Amino acid sequence: MLNQLREHAQRAADHAFTPFSGEPRAAAALLSDGRWVCGVRVESASYSLVIPALTATFSICSTAGRRDIAAVALSGPARPYEKAFLAGTFAGSPVQHSSDIFTFGQLPSTMTSRLPLRASCPDVFSAEAGVALARKAAASAYIPLSGFPVGCVITAAGGLFYSGSNMEHADWARTICAERSAIAAAVSDGAYELDALYLTCLKDPIGTPCGACRQLIAERLPDAEIWMDRGIRPPERTTPAALLPGAFTGRGL
Ligand code: THU
Repeated sequence: MLNQLREHAQRAADHAFTPFSGEPRAAAALLSDGRWVCGVRVESASYSLVIPALTATFSICSTAGRRDIAAVALSGPARPYEKAFLAGTFAGSPVQHSSDIFTFGQLPSTMTSRLPLRASCPDVFSAEAGVALARKAAASAYIPLSGFPVGCVITAAGGLFYSGSNMEHADWARTICAERSAIAAAVSDGAYELDALYLTCLKDPIGTPCGACRQLIAERLPDAEIWMDRGIRPPERTTPAALLPGAFTGRGL
């Protein structure tokens, strides 16, 4: 079963967005009921804002309301920064099984189906509908440090959407915001044509994406429509260019 998990991680690396390092990276998580999910590395032109494969994978699980991770496999031998990540997640203490696999307690008896990353948009779709989905995603936020839930939904070509929520980490610097969590889900699914982003942040009446998310939005969704919901209707519309004028593109890299 763990060999199979490793193969899933290795195959998922095809979807990694790593134009700057040229080193694809992915992870696969096995849940307690045998279901599994993969997440990929999403690089940023600014380098430091990279979404590591494990962060993507854990935030996809967390947004799906699944914190019962039984094992994770990486697409290659674990690096020190990946071990440091695994030391502070909701999955508990990792036990290293081999160079690329870690377990967290009891394994399921069999491996079953893949957890879907995408869902279909409702037939009648509007900013209100997008916001409603983002609010649903916010309900899954893993926020033991802040108590501040944020939810995000990104729509993609083909009437699909991806959800994200913020997931905090014992090491604050390894926390991921809802917007980048949704971007990680879309990229992990191989979705590159991203149309719109809906963000909900009910505890801040004037909440907007943080600087790191603005950079990733500018890079991965430069033409998207953005809707921000703070609980006061109607949601406010903006654009990536308005949020981050003169964004760094990495063109000269
Ligand atoms: N957060 C987001 O999810 N998105 C943002 O754009 C701003 C901040 C999260 C991160 C952290 O879990 C909490 O809100 C406090 O910053």
